[in-house]
Amino acid sequence: MIAIIGAGNVGKALAQRCRVAGETFVFGTPEPAKYESLGHDLRVAVLGVEDAIRQAAIVILAVPHAAAAGVVALLSDWEGRILVDVTNPIAPELGGLTIGTSTSAAEQLAAAAKGARVVKAFNTTGAENLANPQYPSAATFLPVCGDDSGARAAVVDLALRMGFDAVDLGPLRAARYTEPFAMMWIHMAYACGHGRQFAFARIQRTAATGVAAS
Ligand SMILES: NC(=O)c1ccc[n+]([C@@H]2O[C@H](COP(=O)([O-])OP(=O)(O)OC[C@H]3O[C@@H](n4cnc5c(N)ncnc54)[C@H](OP(=O)(O)O)[C@@H]3O)[C@@H](O)[C@H]2O)c1
Repeated sequence: MIAIIGAGNVGKALAQRCRVAGETFVFGTPEPAKYESLGHDLRVAVLGVEDAIRQAAIVILAVPHAAAAGVVALLSDWEGRILVDVTNPIAPELGGLTIGTSTSAAEQLAAAAKGARVVKAFNTTGAENLANPQYPSAATFLPVCGDDSGARAAVVDLALRMGFDAVDLGPLRAARYTEPFAMMWIHMAYACGHGRQFAFARIQRTAATGVAAS
């Protein structure tokens, strides 16, 4: 069971992908009644935040960064749950990041969430791409990092089944790179005028087809 905490742009988008991947999920929000029609439309339960977390083995944190610490504090021990951090520590007016480069929001979250296996994922692209990661030429690139290799592998597997080009980046400290990478997408979308309907994709060649060094 997956608990999606937050039913906004990201929560709704990832709910769609959970369905594609055949996963069972619930939403957790501070005011479940506010999202009653969403629950009805998706035929899914909308619970209080703690109730949703307690039912789940995987918790997807899709809330404003400022709300993350409060969610983590609801459980004194996360008892091995996988906590997928989708948040980005964005400054007001999309003015940059408030945390980095010698730490990351994900590492701060992991320090606070006793017993949680924190994985950073789904934070590097816009909600439209989270809802539909497929482009004609490729799937949206999705970096995944976390200190627990089993948790990381589970999230990579989930993201692949959701239709992303999920790539294992190793330990959680790589969130120091993936959070700024999210800001790059935002910068291109807004400051550079590319809009929100684009994604980053990974291209790779084998040694056999690579250009030989001169
Ligand atoms: N939007 C994107 O394209 C995008 C892409 C990647 C990552 N992100 C990151 O994903 C996170 C969510 O973004 P979003 O665009 O989905 O935001 P959003 O549309 O504003 O939705 C936020 C959700 O979090 C809920 N929430 C607020 N405070 C909460 C709390 N204390 N406990 C539990 N839930 C709470 C809200 O509930 P109420 O409606 O009741 O307040 C709402 O359902 C952010 O950290 C953002 O940086 C966003």
